[in-house]
Amino acid sequence: MNGDLSSVELGKKAAAFKALDLVKTGMILGLGTGSTAAWFIKFLAERITQESLEILCIPTSTQTREQALSLNIPLTSLADVDCIDLVVDGADEFDSNLNLIKGGGGALLQEKIVASACRKMVIITDGSKETFCLGNFALPVEIVQFGSRSTKRHIEKIVEEMG
Ligand code: A5P
Repeated sequence: MNGDLSSVELGKKAAAFKALDLVKTGMILGLGTGSTAAWFIKFLAERITQESLEILCIPTSTQTREQALSLNIPLTSLADVDCIDLVVDGADEFDSNLNLIKGGGGALLQEKIVASACRKMVIITDGSKETFCLGNFALPVEIVQFGSRSTKRHIEKIVEEMG
């Protein structure tokens, strides 16, 4: 059923399918946001059903939560787990050293909190995201109100250091 898909979409689908190899029963999984992660979530739901996998998932956005619920993927919350075994998420750009940029899809803070709470994070992307120099678009930054001045100073310092 790949006939109508563009090469970009086929790349996303292939990357998502490959990441499924890393999923084992008993895992706590973080589910990323975006169209590539959506392929992974679709494949994951099929595998959970076919293999009766015992998996609990933590979504990184409302959009991902809704997709997971619609596919009967069991969910939990960050407050109820010690650690996330694996997060699978997409990216907006990557370079030849595998540095990357995320957040263009707007999931921002939530996906970063999930990423920082995991043992392993795997990024799935297609070749169209490769760029010589990262930063081809303005990246939004989401912060929490608590400590916002301190966060602002911290970001300014990083930007200064980067010149
Ligand atoms: C969400 O904020 C982003 O980090 C996404 O992971 C990113 O935009 C990838 O989206 P696509 O898979 O739709 O390209």
